[in-house]
Amino acid sequence: MLGTYIKGFSKLTKAEKIDWLANNYFENPEEGKALLQNYWHADAKTQKLHDEFIENTLTNYYLPFGVAPNFKIDDEIFTLPMAIEESSVVAAAAKSASFWFNRGGFKTEIIGTKKVGHVHFVYYGDSNKLWEFINEIKNKFYEDTADITENMRKRGGGIQDIMLIDKTFEEPNYYQLKATFETVDSMGANFINTCLEQFSQTLQREIQTSDRFTEEEKQIQIIMCILSNYTPECLVRAEVSCPIEELATDDVSAEEFVQKFERAVHVARIEPYRATTHNKGIMNGIDAVVIATGNDFRAIEAACHTYAARSGQYRSLTDCEVKDGVFRFWIEVPLALGTVGGLTKLHPVVKLAHEMLGRPSAKKLMGMVAASGLAQNFGALRALVTTGIQKGHMKMHLLNVLNQLGATEEEKQQMVAYFKDKVPHYNEIVKGYNDLKNA
Ligand code: MEV
Repeated sequence: MLGTYIKGFSKLTKAEKIDWLANNYFENPEEGKALLQNYWHADAKTQKLHDEFIENTLTNYYLPFGVAPNFKIDDEIFTLPMAIEESSVVAAAAKSASFWFNRGGFKTEIIGTKKVGHVHFVYYGDSNKLWEFINEIKNKFYEDTADITENMRKRGGGIQDIMLIDKTFEEPNYYQLKATFETVDSMGANFINTCLEQFSQTLQREIQTSDRFTEEEKQIQIIMCILSNYTPECLVRAEVSCPIEELATDDVSAEEFVQKFERAVHVARIEPYRATTHNKGIMNGIDAVVIATGNDFRAIEAACHTYAARSGQYRSLTDCEVKDGVFRFWIEVPLALGTVGGLTKLHPVVKLAHEMLGRPSAKKLMGMVAASGLAQNFGALRALVTTGIQKGHMKMHLLNVLNQLGATEEEKQQMVAYFKDKVPHYNEIVKGYNDLKNA
């Protein structure tokens, strides 16, 4: 069996943790230790900051931070920061952004900014009685959280609504206290969860001190208090449009392009196998900006995929329409983002990302992220229905393969020139490189 149990690992110093890991798991402990240490930041203070983001930090894990310029969004021009490892994503985003730059750019609309959370609980009693009671004591929930919500209210946010949801038809005696929140420029997870935990205490206290309930009814059981990462009412739409004739490519006519593009989007609306890959491409663009701006990409991923399945079938997040000679292509996605709090003031590169975006509000960032997802999807579909995806992808991937083969800078330049007008497949790159070496 590989591995060994250790008690109290988190209490060890960083050096002790690295020693333990290297001695137990690395084939060459000294090399492994040196590698971990080489990835430390040269400035000890910056490294300490990273160490303290999570528990048991040993080193840093670098992702490339690139930028995609020329995003015209609601008539402003942005250079979007993107943190991602996949070779062709930034190139595709930048290409789409340039393409739409002279065709009006991206237009965005915030459809809503509501977030929700639930106190999940069990109550053994008459649901009408509970219903009336919750409505009567609603103010108590607001009063008991007044201190917690004070700053948020000053910024224009707070608790918007609290309601009882009867779920007993799905799970015996199961109810929810569903609360709706406006968290303005913060993602708001801690704020929402703190409010919900207070609601659960208020609920228990009020029921237990009321003479309206029997002893059995007073024994409500709080199962959990937690925000929902599904935010269908924290929703943004981004759209591009242009006359059909502006869509001709070197390879196909405008009419053929539009016809195939429309069909490709339709396939992703009706076929979950394709929808998954289609949306994966959208998430390439969304996640990269979400990560670069210090937001929680797992939350965004979870919300987008649930939203994509809201009809009961998993479908494309984008859609398109061709009408009166105009092509319109749009995305609608739930994006619960923050531009204050979390990593936004802590991570030095994240801070810079916000600065280059003009320190946007959460709403503005929602528009940018949606535009990035739409741009990515446009780029992918454009390639798929014309040249095929491998041309652009392998071109960008070429350097990765050459790096794997240990090519020098000069060799890389020669190989890039050699494959300039070709779609390089892996075996061809290896062969071409070996030929070059043996020449
Ligand atoms: C690759 O990361 C993403 C694509 O597969 C997306 C798509 O097929 O639409 C190119």
